[in-house]
Amino acid sequence: MIKGPYWPVPLGRRDGRVSIASESFTLPAPFANITQLKAQFLSKGLSVNDLAVLSGGHTVGISHCSTIATRLYNFTGKGDTDPSLDPRYVPQLKRICFPTDKTTLLAMDPGSSKSFDEDYYNVVLKRRGLFQSNAALLNDKTTYAYVKLQAKSHGYIFFKDFQASMVKMGQIGVLTGKAGEIRRHCALIN
Ligand code: HEM
Repeated sequence: MIKGPYWPVPLGRRDGRVSIASESFTLPAPFANITQLKAQFLSKGLSVNDLAVLSGGHTVGISHCSTIATRLYNFTGKGDTDPSLDPRYVPQLKRICFPTDKTTLLAMDPGSSKSFDEDYYNVVLKRRGLFQSNAALLNDKTTYAYVKLQAKSHGYIFFKDFQASMVKMGQIGVLTGKAGEIRRHCALIN
């Protein structure tokens, strides 16, 4: 539907029988820097390259203004804006997002946020990625090289890489032995 790639999803994964909210706190934060992002991905068996590739998932979808409010309006507590954001983009974002706005939504890849393409990497390269975790990709030589490569690859390499990294990500924390269960429906316990 969004013109993205397909990938094989290995079946028979053992999954948990409970959801514990606190376990999701290990997800990277939008204000994570490159050192934190690399460490968090590594702790789940994902490489720096996987970080660069999977961040491309932000080619689709939206963010809440509230997620970037601090970055726009009070970056260091002095009413300032994150200098790593393109200064020409800041007024546009501020016109859409007011400081206390909790409901307005922003496209993460404006212009093509409903189609899966490599365009997100152009956004990051132009320093228009919405989160610090997007901008962070410019601060490591591997992720920076990947952003630059994808920004002009027309999707082909990105699609292949994304397929492989998605399969890898799907294998994080698989339960083994008698732990958990293989679900009959992936979104529900049996
Ligand atoms: C690298 C670490 C990541 C961070 C820090 C991060 C952070 C975020 C944040 C803050 C939002 C918006 C939340 C909101 O304001 O509503 C978001 C949305 C989204 N993320 Fe990520 N993300 C990361 C990795 C990923 C990965 C690996 C994928 C998929 C491969 C992904 C796919 C998406 C999608 C599709 C949305 C849009 C959801 C929607 O439209 O409702 N993200 N992410």
